[in-house]
Amino acid sequence: EKGAYRHFMLKEIHEQPRALTDTWQGRLSDNNVLASSIGPEAEALLARVEAVHIVACGTSSHAGMVARYWIEAEARLPCNVELASEYRYRDPVVPRNCLFVTLSQSGETADTLAALRYAKSLGEGAGYLATLAICNKPETSLTRESDLIMMTRAGPEIGVASTKAFTTQLMCLRMLTAMIGRGPDRAERVVGDIRGVGSAVERVLELDSAISHLAEHFVDKQHALFLGRGPMYPIAMEGALKLKEISYLHAEAYAAGELKHGPLALVDEDMPVVAVAPNNEWLEKVKSNLQEVRARGGKLYVFADENSGLETEPGITVLDMPHVPDTVAPIAYTIPLQLLAYHVAVAKGTDVDQPRNLAKSVTVE
Ligand code: F6R
Repeated sequence: EKGAYRHFMLKEIHEQPRALTDTWQGRLSDNNVLASSIGPEAEALLARVEAVHIVACGTSSHAGMVARYWIEAEARLPCNVELASEYRYRDPVVPRNCLFVTLSQSGETADTLAALRYAKSLGEGAGYLATLAICNKPETSLTRESDLIMMTRAGPEIGVASTKAFTTQLMCLRMLTAMIGRGPDRAERVVGDIRGVGSAVERVLELDSAISHLAEHFVDKQHALFLGRGPMYPIAMEGALKLKEISYLHAEAYAAGELKHGPLALVDEDMPVVAVAPNNEWLEKVKSNLQEVRARGGKLYVFADENSGLETEPGITVLDMPHVPDTVAPIAYTIPLQLLAYHVAVAKGTDVDQPRNLAKSVTVE
C-alpha cells in the first residue's frame, strides 16, 4: 500500500532511513562488523579472502562499483566489478582465494543467476573460494544457490526503479568491506558511521521540496549530464539511470575529470549538469571541473557538502547537503538524485512506478 504517498517510488525513497537501519541491526558489535551474522562458517571463510569479484546488472552493478573503491582502499584487496551479461561470456581469470559476490534486488535476474552458475561450474581449484549473494528478496534462485547470503532487508520494493534496494546494498557492501578488511582501528570508526546513516538520510530527505522546485529546470530539456569523482562516479551513474528510466530524459554520467576529453563539447545552456560534491579528497578537483562547465555557459546543479565553500551564483545552483562521514557519503548522496528523477518524472507526467518497456524482475537474458 502506498499510504499517504502518491507513488510507491516516493514511499520507498522515504523508507530508506528505516530500511538502512534494519540492514545493520544485529550485525554490529561496539567496535566491529560481525562476519558471523551472515552464517556460522562466514568468519573463517571471509578471513581467507584475498580478492573479490562482484557481478550484477543495472542499479545493482552501480552498488558494486562503489564497493570497489571501498574494498581496494580500505580492505586493501583487489576487487573487480562486472556486468553479469558481460562477465559470463569472457572467460575471466579467477585469482587465488577470490570471493564471488552477486548483488540483486529480485534474486531472479537471469544474467546474474547465469553468472553465478558459471562461477560455480569452475569448481574447486580453478574456481572461487565461495559465493555470496547480497539479495533483497528471500527464497530466490540466487540465495538458494549461493554459499553465503546477506539479506539487504529493504522490504518489498514495488516501484520498478530501484531505490531502497540500492542504498541497502551499499550498506551491506559497507559491512562486507569491514568483514574482509584487516584493520580493526578503522572498523571502529566505520561502525559509528553506519549507526548514524539513518538519521543522516532523514536530514537529506528534508531537501525534498527544494528538489521538486529544481525539477522544473529539467522538464523541457532533452539531455542531462551527471558528474562525480571517486565513489561518487558510480553514484552519478545511478542518478543518470534513474532519470533515464522514469522521466525518459537522456542522461549520461561522467567521471568529472573525463569531461575535457570529449563531453565538454556537448555543454551549452540547454544541457543541465548535475554534480555530487561531498567534502572529500576530490572536492577541489570537482570544483575545478565545475568551472570548466561554467566557463562554457553550462547550467550547474550541485549537491554539495554544507562546508564545501560552493555557493549559488549565476550559472550554478548549490543545494547544501548535511555533512556526512566519507565512509557513508555514497549512500547519502544517492537520495537527492532519486528525488530529482522522481520529481522530473512527476512534472513530465510519466508513469513513475511502471515506466514503459521495463519489468521489475528481468528473468530473461
Ligand atoms: C533500475 C533497476 C534495474 C535493476 C536490474 C537488476 O532502477 O531496477 O537496473 O537494478 O534489472 O535487478 P536486480 O537487482 O533485481 O538483479
